[in-house]
Amino acid sequence: MPKLIVCGRGGCGKSTLVTLLARTLGAREKVLVVDTDESNLGLCKMLGQNPPEMSLMASLGGKSAVQKKLLASLQQENSEKANYFKENLSLADLPSACVNWDGMVGNLRIGKIEHSMEGCACPMGSITRSLLKELEVNNNEWVIADTEAGVEHFGRGILEGADLILMVIDTSYESVLLAEKAKGLAEEAHKKFFVVLNKVDEATEATLRRELADRGIEVGSAISHSSDISGANLVGNSLDANMQRDSMDKLVDKIVRLCS
Ligand SMILES: Nc1ncnc2c1ncn2[C@@H]1O[C@H](COP(=O)(O)OP(=O)(O)OP(=O)(O)O)[C@@H](O)[C@H]1O
Ligand SMILES: [Mg+2]
Repeated sequence: MPKLIVCGRGGCGKSTLVTLLARTLGAREKVLVVDTDESNLGLCKMLGQNPPEMSLMASLGGKSAVQKKLLASLQQENSEKANYFKENLSLADLPSACVNWDGMVGNLRIGKIEHSMEGCACPMGSITRSLLKELEVNNNEWVIADTEAGVEHFGRGILEGADLILMVIDTSYESVLLAEKAKGLAEEAHKKFFVVLNKVDEATEATLRRELADRGIEVGSAISHSSDISGANLVGNSLDANMQRDSMDKLVDKIVRLCS
């Protein structure tokens, strides 16, 4: 099954969608959740899991080792993109200390900012690009990457190995503008793209659907504003797929139709 990237503006509900989707799929299929966000720490809590023993960046020798490899690749004559993994990498090939499996759902962290003045997050972006490109999944395995806010990761090329880009749209005009931008970037990279509305009610859903239709942007599903979700998040409790069962089932059907 596909490798998905979930993106959107800050606080729109990317990690929430990743979690609800992983919980829905994890009832019957294997799902690797890849946390590519170098700042936020809450994804594991939403999943109800502990973080893995170490980040993927740590397993590759740490940030400075990755940075060296990245710089060396940029200095090559044909400026090859840095690669950290073998071709046809399977989920089973990932270092066991880097994935915490709980039943069918596993979580992996690319790496987090750990120290002040430690420099930019380019090494994390480079690892993510390489991982998504080399990971091979079979028919009952999914990879879902949660990203940091905005579209910087599009510039870092993490789309390369992805099959589908899902953008979360909250009830803001900024989200609509960002979706227009992201759709163009996804098209440029020849990637499938659609959006999921989040935190909507009847009126805001109708307005967003109109604004997005005017821009030729396809809406795959809509998640209503839910006090179950915000309440759980407020105290670090995990999310349950049943909180948005219909929207998630609709979304899974749509992804399967588009990607099979
Ligand atoms: N459908 C929803 N109903 C109510 N609250 C929601 C909903 N979706 C998300 N939230 C709340 O919105 C806040 C942000 O959600 P989340 O952390 O998933 O966003 P994000 O896009 O991952 O944020 P960031 O850009 O910081 O990574 C959280 O408090 C979450 O509980
Ligand atoms: Mg997040």
